[in-house]
Order: sequence, then C-alpha cells, then structure tokens
Amino acid sequence: MPKGHAETGWSRNNLKKFFGKSSLIIDESAAFRLNHDVPLVVAEINGSLVKENPPKLIASPNCTTAVLVMALAPLLKHSPIKRAVAASYQAASGAGRTARDGFLKEIETMAKGKTRACGEFPYALAGNIFPQIGRFLESGFTEEEEKVMAETKKILEAPDLAVSATCVRVPVLRGHCLAVWVELEKPLPSGNLAGLYQNFPGITLKEPGAAPLEIAGQGGVSIGRLRRDPLWPNGLSLWVAGDNLLKGAAQNVLQIADLLMTRPEPA
Ligand SMILES: NC(=O)c1ccc[n+]([C@@H]2O[C@H](COP(=O)([O-])OP(=O)(O)OC[C@H]3O[C@@H](n4cnc5c(N)ncnc54)[C@H](OP(=O)(O)O)[C@@H]3O)[C@@H](O)[C@H]2O)c1
Repeated sequence: MPKGHAETGWSRNNLKKFFGKSSLIIDESAAFRLNHDVPLVVAEINGSLVKENPPKLIASPNCTTAVLVMALAPLLKHSPIKRAVAASYQAASGAGRTARDGFLKEIETMAKGKTRACGEFPYALAGNIFPQIGRFLESGFTEEEEKVMAETKKILEAPDLAVSATCVRVPVLRGHCLAVWVELEKPLPSGNLAGLYQNFPGITLKEPGAAPLEIAGQGGVSIGRLRRDPLWPNGLSLWVAGDNLLKGAAQNVLQIADLLMTRPEPA
C-alpha cells in the first residue's frame, strides 16, 4: 500500500485545540482544505481572501493543485473556462522526505543492476512510472486526483467547472509538471498566446516548456508549449512546471504569511 502523509491526520487531530485562541494557522495538509469556512489560498490567485479579513485557519493546497491553478487562473482574465483536463508528472518528494530518500536508495540499487521497491510507493519508482498517487476511490480516481479536481474548483471559485485529472508518479526527485488541455468559452486571442499569461505574478514563460531539473529550487511556475488545440473549439494546450516543495508547499505558505503581515491595520 502506498503511504500517505501522516501530517494530514496530525492536523485533523491536533489543530482544533488551537482554534479560538489568538493563534493564526496556515495548514499545508489536506485536513481542512475543502471545509467551506476555511479559505484555500494560492497567494497570487485568491490572496485577497486572507488580506481583507484574515480567518484563524487558512489552508494551502495540494502541490499539484497549486501548480495547475497557476496555469488556469490567468486564463480567467480572458474568458471563463468550460473544461480542463490535466495529466500530471509528479516527483518523488511530493510524497515527503522518507519517500524521497527511499527513491534515492532505489536509484543506488538500480545502478547495481537490481530493482528493489523502497515500500513508500505502490511500485518501485526508479526506472518506472505509475498512474497511482494515493488510494483508489470508488469513482475510479485516486485520492490525489480527487484532491486536484476538488481543490481546483474551490480556488478558482468555479464549482461547475468540468475538470479531470490523471496523476502519475515519475522517477524525478523534485518538481511537478502537468500537461493541460483547456477549453475556453471565448475565442483565443488571435496573436501570440503568451499574452494570456503576461503580467500575472509568479509565472515565467519558457518555450518549449521547462523540465523539473530546470525549475527545482525556483519559486513560481513555468509555462510553455502554448498552442491552439484542435480537440475543442477555443482549445488551448500547455505545459506547466513548478517546484512541489516551493510553489506547491513552503513558498505558498510563506507568501500567505507575507500577505497577513503586510495587511493594513484596521481603521
Ligand atoms: N512534499 C510536498 O510536495 C507537499 C506539497 C504540499 C503539501 N504538502 C503537505 O505538507 C505536509 C508535510 O509534508 P512533507 O512533504 O513536508 O512531509 P515530510 O517531508 O515527511 O516532513 C514532515 C515533517 O513533519 C514533521 N512531523 C511529522 N509528525 C510530526 C509530529 N507529530 N509533530 C511534530 N512534527 C512532526 C517531521 O518531523 P521529523 O523531521 O522529526 O521527522 C518532518 O519534519 C503534509 O501534510 C503534506 O500533505 C507536501
């Protein structure tokens, strides 16, 4: 069985004792992300939720969701999104430090001509890929896929958005990438599609698309492979890459903290 982050259970069991006190909590786990009274925040997209009226508990999204929504949110300035389909390519470190260390040991073993699964993933990861992150649910989707779909709708405030994800673990240490197909309601701009992303904070445009080794250790996300897609009317295809440990986790939390600290004093 794949192991999960014990920290989600920890948050669920322990954070409540801090509620109602003067503390302000930014939780990176999945424990409260979908609670209707807990804002799920990506600083560049819906940071205003915490800046105007800070709640006691703020959730930061799943690492893959954070990277995906950075590719979708700028498009909303041009047009509502009709549907979005994403296939992810997720690094070992997305499953935590123990899993990352296990993956490194698998690589050492593979260099000696052997294959031995470290036990942190459902299969050996070195020299492998597999379409399973988290448990399979009754829907046929995995836990990770359900998180990505539900969290995307919440962050984009688009409960009716048709969104589908297939999440895949790849033998990469750090950096999540996604291939994304989007159908917009309005026609795409006639000129350069890069214009859709200009002036949106946290985004670097890089053609022909960034690889994990290029973006590991860097904040924000990198978008490339922008093209009109014949699959749908007003169809757009793209590639987005982001460091799961930074924009997918710690950077986003620090950005939220920064928003709270730079908030104007109430009148
Ligand atoms: N990795 C990602 O890409 C990513 C992205 C987004 C969100 N998240 C979320 O972030 C959280 C942490 O994930 P991670 O990848 O950073 O995990 P990790 O690499 O396994 O690190 C977990 C950290 O939590 C500490 N910890 C665990 N149980 C604890 C307890 N009972 N009391 C105090 N400290 C405890 C560990 O301490 P020790 O050092 O003592 O072991 C370790 O430093 C998870 O909820 C995860 O879902 C992770």
